[in-house]
Amino acid sequence: MTPTTTEVTQAIKLTERLNRIEPSATMAVVAEADKLRGQGIDVVDLGAGEPHFATPQHIKDAAIAAIQENFTKYTAVAGTAELRDAIVQRHAADFGSDYRREEVVASVGGKHALFNAIQVLVGHGDEVILPVPYWVSFKDIIRYAGGKPVLIETDESRNFALTAEMVAKAVTARTKMIILNSPSNPSGAVMQPEQVREIVRMAYERGIWVASDECYVYLNYTGKNFSVGSLGEFRERMVILGSLSKTYAMTGWRLGYALAPAAVASAITKLQSQSTSNATSFVQKAAAAALKGPQRCVEEMRQEYIKLRDHVVSGLRAIPGVRCTLPEGAFYAYPNVSAFFGGNVKSASDVAGKLLREAHVATVPGEGFGTADHIRLSYATSIAELDRGLERMRKSLASL
Ligand SMILES: Cc1ncc(COP(=O)(O)O)c(C=O)c1O
Repeated sequence: MTPTTTEVTQAIKLTERLNRIEPSATMAVVAEADKLRGQGIDVVDLGAGEPHFATPQHIKDAAIAAIQENFTKYTAVAGTAELRDAIVQRHAADFGSDYRREEVVASVGGKHALFNAIQVLVGHGDEVILPVPYWVSFKDIIRYAGGKPVLIETDESRNFALTAEMVAKAVTARTKMIILNSPSNPSGAVMQPEQVREIVRMAYERGIWVASDECYVYLNYTGKNFSVGSLGEFRERMVILGSLSKTYAMTGWRLGYALAPAAVASAITKLQSQSTSNATSFVQKAAAAALKGPQRCVEEMRQEYIKLRDHVVSGLRAIPGVRCTLPEGAFYAYPNVSAFFGGNVKSASDVAGKLLREAHVATVPGEGFGTADHIRLSYATSIAELDRGLERMRKSLASL
């Protein structure tokens, strides 16, 4: 039997802080699906959270040109001036924000930017408000910093909506930060801009930080992309975490950023100077090309995701026993599968396990996102692949 992290920690004296976190639930599914594929099994992969599109050509060309021009050495820890200016200008053009170069740090992916921001702002015993369902990494990154996640339950029948009133009820004297993630991974819920404004205002008045993970900000299907960056009057208590991964189909390139008051950006730079240093030099060139170049590719991908979303949600709703809210952003469906619980199948993990091992469809169980009744499907794939997955699911779930 594989030893648990605790057993390993005790045996070889790994640190106590490592023991506070779990490996990412989504990565675990990817690994198991890979194992099946390695055995020659044809797996329909609806588990991985990444675009199926290729990175646009002009972005690839910029990276190739940068390598040819030997742009392959260290850069400033926070990123080149060209990239930081491109980040602030793109953000200003799209959301009316008003950041300066000193207020942006480019990191090795949005997850790294988030990790850095939480490490510099959250200390031992600090409470961090985290709406449920949450992206898997939030909880562990908070815990690694010594913070305490304070979970707010949302209501599926109200599309997992988060309101200012719900957040206000969870605030205590120890609250240090509120995490927002709209559009949300895993539910695809998009917050109402008025609710976001109310939360940011309330946080500002109480000296609480808002960390807004806007990794899916351009994959918003309501027709109204919204960033907290447009609420400039509260900027002294806001950190925006952005990423090029999903927007430009660049998950493997690893480029994300934090927009924050200069003192926080400088603290993040200090931390990053003692870990990764700069994000990869030629990736920074490619990222600048992505942000400064034509944005048509982003809109084209968004339109495709809307079609895929509509297709997968109607397919899921047609499976007897499955309930599914309509996601308004990101590229995940989050169906409720609790109607299938009974006998040997007691949880979302059991449903996802059966779907993977028996139907060879990879999904992610909801427990990793804080809800026990759901599974997450990524619909960033072709219609044909979605249909294969839906058909296999329909047959497998009918046997329960
Ligand atoms: C909500 C959320 N934030 C951040 C990230 C991190 O993205 P990356 O590190 O690839 O920029 C992800 C990736 O799945 C995500 O879903």
